[in-house]
Amino acid sequence: MNYIGSKLSLLQFLEESINKVVDKNCHVFCDLFAGTGIVGSYFKRKGYRIIANDIQYYSYVLNRHYIGNHKELPFLKLTKEISELKNIEINNRKNFVCSYLSNLKGAKGFIYKNYCVGGTKNKNEERQYFSDENGMRCDAIRQKVENWKKEKLITDNEYYFLLATLIETIDKRANTASIYGAFLKQLKKTAQTPFVLKPAELIMNDQEHQVFNEDINNIASKIEGDILYLDPPYNHRQYATNYHILETVAKYDNPKIHGKTGLRDYQNQKSLYCSKSQVKKAFRDLILKAKAKYIFLSYNNEGIMTFNDIKEIMSLRGKYGYFTKEYNRFKADKSENRNYIASKTLEYLHYVVCR
Ligand SMILES: C[S@@+](CC[C@H](N)C(=O)[O-])C[C@H]1O[C@@H](n2cnc3c(N)ncnc32)[C@H](O)[C@@H]1O
Repeated sequence: MNYIGSKLSLLQFLEESINKVVDKNCHVFCDLFAGTGIVGSYFKRKGYRIIANDIQYYSYVLNRHYIGNHKELPFLKLTKEISELKNIEINNRKNFVCSYLSNLKGAKGFIYKNYCVGGTKNKNEERQYFSDENGMRCDAIRQKVENWKKEKLITDNEYYFLLATLIETIDKRANTASIYGAFLKQLKKTAQTPFVLKPAELIMNDQEHQVFNEDINNIASKIEGDILYLDPPYNHRQYATNYHILETVAKYDNPKIHGKTGLRDYQNQKSLYCSKSQVKKAFRDLILKAKAKYIFLSYNNEGIMTFNDIKEIMSLRGKYGYFTKEYNRFKADKSENRNYIASKTLEYLHYVVCR
């Protein structure tokens, strides 16, 4: 997913830097602003036990699958509804269930009615976040998955695998410049193509991983690990508004929505890390209560906390240091080809070896 602040292209830098600091006796890696789960997934592959957390529910869903799932998903009970599954090898069942869902007849549900032209045409706000066909497909799949869960035809692990798969797939077909703060006037090419579910990767690592969906400042003191990796928002851009439709696809809770973009209420997901006046206090509180041998923080030179703020706060816990890397700025849509004044930023990995 092209996610604001994604660390996909910094994974090697993170690993090499972290390995220069930590001792060999580190087994538990905490990724508590987990986003897409790409960092936790990377360290899960390296054999760590992962504890992941994020305030957004779509992120919880992604992490609940990429981090929480580590055994094959056999869809045993679903054979009651899809009898052909019995003849499919266990490790091919994910594919089979995804193609079964991809072939469902579309449904005019919440996504179609509120975020597609067909469903919003004669309403106050016409919206085109998805093609009509993809909106109806998304609704049909989302409703089916929820029914399977209610009827206990799928386990929680299977449920989150299917939701993570739907979120990843639908995001690639959204008619946006990658975030949901606005939609494009014309349906772009990728949005015109009807989607087919592509099974989200299942990462094997047989440890007791944990995944939470909390405000980090409420949960940090209850989580203990060797390495605590922090990747908060860097600026005022709230994830709750930029990814509101993914939140609704994940929750599918018929929220009240308003305005041009059909925004859901996000009062209890407003991040203090996006507020210039509140971020330092929140960060200080977090650093002081964190339970880890090492704390690492990703941040860049354009973030709302200054280098000195961070150094001063992290030094409260022990020996402070940092690594840097030049990095390409987040671009909403690569095809837009905008001319940025400075297209590179300096990415920092601050750390403290806790006393
Ligand atoms: C920079 S992104 C993390 C990106 C992630 N490392 C990745 O590569 O995908 C910051 C994340 O912090 C989450 N977040 C913001 N405030 C939070 C809070 N108070 N508690 C927990 N998560 C929070 C956002 O929802 C967002 O997913």
